[in-house]
Amino acid sequence: MDKLIIEGGNRLIGTVEISGAKNAVLPLMAASLLTDGQTRLTNVPKLRDIETFKKLLVHMGCEVFSDSDNRTLTICADNVTRPEAPYELVKTMRASILVLGPLVARFKRARVSLPGGCTIGARPVNLHLMGLEKMGARVSIEHGYIVVEAEKLTGAHIYLDQPTVTGTENIMLAAVYAEGETTIENAAMEPEITALASALNRMGADISGAGTDTIKITGTSELRATEHRVIYDRIEAGTFMIASAITTGNVLIKNCPIEHLDSLVAKLKEAGTEITEEEDGVRVVGQWPIRSVDIKTYPYPGFPTDMQAQIMTMMSVAGGLSVITETIFENRFMHVAELKRMGADITVDGRNAIVKGVDRLSGAPLMATDLRASASLVLAGLVADGTTIISRIYHLDRGYEDIEKKLKALGARIERIRSEERF
Ligand code: EPU
Repeated sequence: MDKLIIEGGNRLIGTVEISGAKNAVLPLMAASLLTDGQTRLTNVPKLRDIETFKKLLVHMGCEVFSDSDNRTLTICADNVTRPEAPYELVKTMRASILVLGPLVARFKRARVSLPGGCTIGARPVNLHLMGLEKMGARVSIEHGYIVVEAEKLTGAHIYLDQPTVTGTENIMLAAVYAEGETTIENAAMEPEITALASALNRMGADISGAGTDTIKITGTSELRATEHRVIYDRIEAGTFMIASAITTGNVLIKNCPIEHLDSLVAKLKEAGTEITEEEDGVRVVGQWPIRSVDIKTYPYPGFPTDMQAQIMTMMSVAGGLSVITETIFENRFMHVAELKRMGADITVDGRNAIVKGVDRLSGAPLMATDLRASASLVLAGLVADGTTIISRIYHLDRGYEDIEKKLKALGARIERIRSEERF
């Protein structure tokens, strides 16, 4: 398995370009299942999760082509013969659950392996299933698979106990073909939801309210395949903001969707980071000492849980005490044990992490546990004294395109050791 070796201590200086958003491409790939014809996706990032989703579509019978630089995907779902997502693929990527809605809407049946828990929490899918049942689908669990069947779907009023992101997407993806109007109350409001709704509307759907907590979908009998450009990745952009902030860097972030990063920008400014919008990007200048700030994760537009681990690294070297509260996932503090191995002073008490800033972190061998935890360890390695070696970085490759190349271009001393090489 590949490892990253980081020599900490360099300021990051220069320009970085953000890629397309993983969590926006995956629902668009699922949406391609709704129609005959060719769906084209542009600005697609090169990530392992995208490759896994491609495999899933091919498994079902879709034809999937990438252009030579792998940035444009063409998907043709004319011949779906197996409307199912097997365990082997779902276990490596929970977002496979997104095929449930479009499959049942178009093919009247779907069989998707039940995702188990994962390192960040139990992550149930009960709300996805409740939404489909409200639209008239029959749901059963057979041999570890969710089986959903529906001769026809009918519009329904669906209230979500919790604003689930992929749950909202799944229900939208099914409701586009339901008879009549579907309302999703307490819907997730993430930018990826708005992007999916716009894409579905371009295909001929009638969706309003995306980006608010009430989404209305009027069903239609036919959608057409078309082209969609993937929005930029707010979490990748946020991670590079912190990389600059934490190294007292000066980085211009191009393609930065700053309009989706209000909560992070507010917190970074409170911590003393200078953030200015320029003509061709967002400039982030880190200032020392970092001021400690308290953080509480919330659904969008609140502070994203996907940035919690990275800001914790920043607070580990800040000038005071910070309380970081994780309200979305019950077990998303896996990075704490690794940060402590670098000398961070963090105490976890239930959903709170109390972070007392230390003068310095020291490089250490570390184990990456999930995608965003891995990013937090890379950030820690950049600011630590000495050498940090991060193992199990396949998590990073699921969601960050060329992270070490991008950091290296900014002056970081970071190398990937391929698994076949000896270290
Ligand atoms: N929940 C339920 N029942 C459900 C669905 C969700 O109780 O049926 C709960 C979850 O357990 C959690 C909360 O609702 O406590 C919110 O989870 P959500 O469903 O919104 O998460 P998700 O859709 O599985 C997406 C992103 C995650 C991101 C979360 C929260 C994708 C593919 N994944 O997951 O991204 O952390 O929303 O913003 O969009 C990542 O990129 O690293 C990542 C984990």
